[in-house]
Amino acid sequence: MAAAASAQAVEEVRIKYLGRKGSITTLAKNTDFSKLSPDEKRDFGKQLNELKTLATEQIGAAAAAAKSSGGGAAAKKGPAVDLTLPGTGHSLGSLHPITLVQMELEDIFQGMGFMVLTGPDVETEHYNFDALNIPGDHPARDMQDTFWLKNGMLLKTHTSANQVRTLERFGAPLRAIFPGRCFRYEAMDPSHETTFYQCEGLVVDRDISVANLIAVMKALLGEIFHRDVTVRLRPGYFPFVEPGFELDLQCLLCGGEKCSTCGDGWIELIPCGLVHPRVLEFGGIDTNEYSGFAFGLGLTRLAMMKYGIHDIRRLNAGDIRFCEQFPAAV
Ligand code: FA5
Repeated sequence: MAAAASAQAVEEVRIKYLGRKGSITTLAKNTDFSKLSPDEKRDFGKQLNELKTLATEQIGAAAAAAKSSGGGAAAKKGPAVDLTLPGTGHSLGSLHPITLVQMELEDIFQGMGFMVLTGPDVETEHYNFDALNIPGDHPARDMQDTFWLKNGMLLKTHTSANQVRTLERFGAPLRAIFPGRCFRYEAMDPSHETTFYQCEGLVVDRDISVANLIAVMKALLGEIFHRDVTVRLRPGYFPFVEPGFELDLQCLLCGGEKCSTCGDGWIELIPCGLVHPRVLEFGGIDTNEYSGFAFGLGLTRLAMMKYGIHDIRRLNAGDIRFCEQFPAAV
């Protein structure tokens, strides 16, 4: 009785002793009266009745106390706990839409035999610019103004910064993606942030052509959107590819009707091209034997298109109500 902390626990004690199969109830049934003398029988009956009365009284009192205080004998020692009230559940966190898309991309590319690598956020000028055929006086540097550190390093402006590092480390042949965070000194608007994500892809092998590049881009978009999307490929200039292209996606927010996110009905999504021989040489690759293609997918913009997010600034705003709309697990 001392351990019975609630009306339910008291009831369990009652059933155990006084219930239909309770140990006191069955005491008479389990006793072989033929072995007892008339005096013993009388004493047994008397004691059994006293025991029943005592148990009934004590259990009844404990049940009444539990009902009035919300607990049993043990509960009187501490605060009452009402076990009938609903509990307080733990809420699960959710994955950020950029994380969800990154995980999906990693799955798709791993299925095509790509390694998934990462690179540092703080880069050297060499890997971010010079090794990508963008020397100090090249006008292409102006397109990617960034945050310079006092020690001459910089916050990487694009995931392409990892290209030559990867070539030096793994050599050819090679298939890798490197998703990562990029930083630019940028005027912010619905599709431009100062901090955003890209996913670089790099393939180096024998006889690589634009046909390989287009085949991989088609496979990727088909798997990501699970539906037909309209894309256009147009010439694009990047010093580290030759030829270079811009692969644009018809805006999925307005269906190409022109909105405040896309401006002209198209979203610049995947700049790409065949790796410039000078970049391969910087990475120590024999250009007589190997060629390659690379692309720099706008991961943040892809997440916007996939989840119908109209303003890029929502993604880094830290608003929990925004993040909660996305699944906790995939
Ligand atoms: C580059 O960064 C090149 N490194 C891409 C590349 C890689 C070309 C390999 C050829 C071969 P660009 O500056 O266009 O290119 O950026 C690539 C993508 O990143 C854009 O298409 C866009 O989707 C995304 N992006 C660029 N700037 C921003 C920004 N401020 N906010 C959000 N997304 C951005």
